[in-house]
This record gives sequence, structure tokens and C-alpha cells, in this order.
Amino acid sequence: MTFDHSIKIAPSILSADFANFGGEIAAIEAQGADWVHVDVMDGHFVPNLTFGPPLVKAIRKHVTTFMDVHLMIAPVDPYIDAFAEAGSDMITAHVEAGPHIHRTLQAIRAADCKAGVSLNPGTPLESIAHVLDLVDMVLIMTVNPGFGGQKFIPSQIDKVRRLRAMIGDRPIHIQIDGGMTPQTAPMVVEAGADVLVAGSAVFMGGSVDSPGVYGENIAALRHAAEAARG
Ligand code: DX5
Ligand code: ZN
Repeated sequence: MTFDHSIKIAPSILSADFANFGGEIAAIEAQGADWVHVDVMDGHFVPNLTFGPPLVKAIRKHVTTFMDVHLMIAPVDPYIDAFAEAGSDMITAHVEAGPHIHRTLQAIRAADCKAGVSLNPGTPLESIAHVLDLVDMVLIMTVNPGFGGQKFIPSQIDKVRRLRAMIGDRPIHIQIDGGMTPQTAPMVVEAGADVLVAGSAVFMGGSVDSPGVYGENIAALRHAAEAARG
């Protein structure tokens, strides 16, 4: 299969109605979402708590596209098998979450999932240079992880550009997470990103009863991003 360089919009269900994940996922997928982004937080690695493996497994039944699970937990290694068994298509771990990211990524692939590695805004790219041949995606955080609705940190744009050069022709996606809007998306796409996570910018103003708003929000992100590709 050839590598898919197209722009992919991955709504983060952190901004969805937590009492109705089934309905919310059906709505965003019907309205054009390419992936479903699931933010797992532990109240320790980040100052917020969200879902564990049983909830991710319940969500899985509703995902027909691609379930992208972003683990903001430390330690991470003891939970990889549980999130794989919950049906994750991709598991992304933070390089800051443990001392042995190489081992973590090997464990994700051994569990038959695509492997992603994520960097907080303060973490240099050099920290992942040794694992580029073990990953399917690098996630550049453009906010400090923990909450939706934060402001995009522009200093990360240059990091995306340098990552793009570092990756060369390897089949690795560059995902951006945090503060994505039709204004910020073109800047990271121009720098080399192809997967855009968006919470507030997708769910803002819509609901399962007005799903067309999700469609308009997803289309606005996609059009802005695609225009940046020229
Ligand atoms: C933040 C999460 C994000 C969050 C993004 O720690 O990883 O996925 O949902 O939310 P927005 O798009 O509102 O910045
Ligand atoms: Zn995320």
C-alpha cells in the first residue's frame, strides 16, 4: 500500500458530549472525519483525567474509520496491551513519559498497532532521532497537553519543518494537536504536517442534533489545510 500523504482531520472527542460518545462519533464520521482521536489522561503526566481501557473499548464499537489513541500517561508501558486489546488502531506515547521510548514503541508494534511518538512543546526533536525507524507517526504538541481549547504555540511551526526534513522519505505521518483552527492549520501543513487533531474547532457550535455544523467545521479545516499545500 502506498503511503497516504493526504490531509486527514482527526476530531478529538475530548470536546464531545461525554454522555453520548456513540452518537458523537457517528455524527463526526458522517460529517467527514478521517480519524477519531481519543485523549487518555492520567492526572499525573497531565493535570486532567479522562478514559481508561474499558471506555476506549466501548468507544471502539462506534468507530468505523481509524481509532487514534493518544496516551498522556506515565508510566505507559504497563497499559499498552490493554489499549491494544481495546481496539486501538494507532497508539501514541509521549517520549517524556518514560525512560525507554524505544522499548515502548517496540511493545506497541508487537501488540499489532501502529506506533506514534509524541513530543511536548518543550521537548527537542533530537529525543526521537533514534526511533524514527520504529514509528508510523510523530505527534507534535502545539499546546501543553491536558486540556482542549488552549492557544496554539507558534514556536512549534519551525519544529514541524525540521521534523519533516529529518523524516526524509520514510513513511511517517506528522500529526499536530492543540489549538488547530482554519487560521493555524495552514501554517503547520505548509511546514509538513498531514494529520490535524482538532477538538474545539470541530465540535464548536454543533451537536448530534445539529451535525451539519460539525461538517462545516471539518470542511473549513480541510479547505484551509489543503490550500496551504498549493
Ligand atoms: C490536549 C489534547 C488534544 C485536545 C485538543 O492535551 O491532546 O487532543 O483535545 O483540543 P483543541 O483542538 O481544542 O486544542
Ligand atoms: Zn490529543
